[in-house]
Amino acid sequence: MRLVRFSEATHVGRHAAESIAKTIGERPRAVLGLPTGATPEIFYAELGKLHDSGLDFSRLTIFMLDEYVGMEKDNPLTFASYMDRHFYSKVNVSRQQRHSLNALTTNPQAECKRYERELTEAGGFDLLVLGIGSNGHIAFNEPGPFLTLETHVEKLSEETIKANDRGTVEKDNSSLSVPAAKTFPTHAMTIGIEAIFSARTVLLLATGATKAEVIAKMVDGHITTQLPASLLQIHHDCLVLVDEAAAAGVRSGP
Ligand code: F6R
Repeated sequence: MRLVRFSEATHVGRHAAESIAKTIGERPRAVLGLPTGATPEIFYAELGKLHDSGLDFSRLTIFMLDEYVGMEKDNPLTFASYMDRHFYSKVNVSRQQRHSLNALTTNPQAECKRYERELTEAGGFDLLVLGIGSNGHIAFNEPGPFLTLETHVEKLSEETIKANDRGTVEKDNSSLSVPAAKTFPTHAMTIGIEAIFSARTVLLLATGATKAEVIAKMVDGHITTQLPASLLQIHHDCLVLVDEAAAAGVRSGP
């Protein structure tokens, strides 16, 4: 695991977008895993700009990392609608290139199996972009006594629900009206640890002071399933892109 510090969050997003451009240059048919959340918004905006200046996304295969179980289709907090807003509406990625988990499936376990099959058939990730929860989750692999290899249904921790059930993921976007009183899903479907670990390259993005504590633990602490991101210490090619605020507690490294 290598930590790269940037003076501002914008530079984290820009650098991550440039890594995608480099991957497309080397492997136009690359398989990407892409996250949602507040952190990657700049990254997607930068990818939109790169597309405007000619970057072609048309041969990639793209997998989302996770999705809430049972969230209504019209809820702007579904990860599918996030991706439409922030990414797919800005680049040339056709429907055939996109893979996602269906929030409204009546059988989440079977849906996870289907997704795992699609991932395996695609040959795994060439480049996987991750965010990190303040409790150390990656995708929605939550802290606990064990982790799960394959795509699976995960019970969301209270911390994760609180962090996501707020509409604040998009709080500055006044065009979004997130229904505050609706019941937030308690479970999500998520890719498992095997897909994360077999990714050829992992980029983990973290920005802002709220991520400082978890980044310090991930980089300098023990490897433990109680902080799933700490396992990335032993990934063969994992780059952690952070701004100064998120890197504030890190002791080791450059
Ligand atoms: C979302 C995902 C999560 C987020 C994490 C950080 O697809 O996989 O692991 O990356 O919860 O979210 P933000 O960026 O909103 O702090």
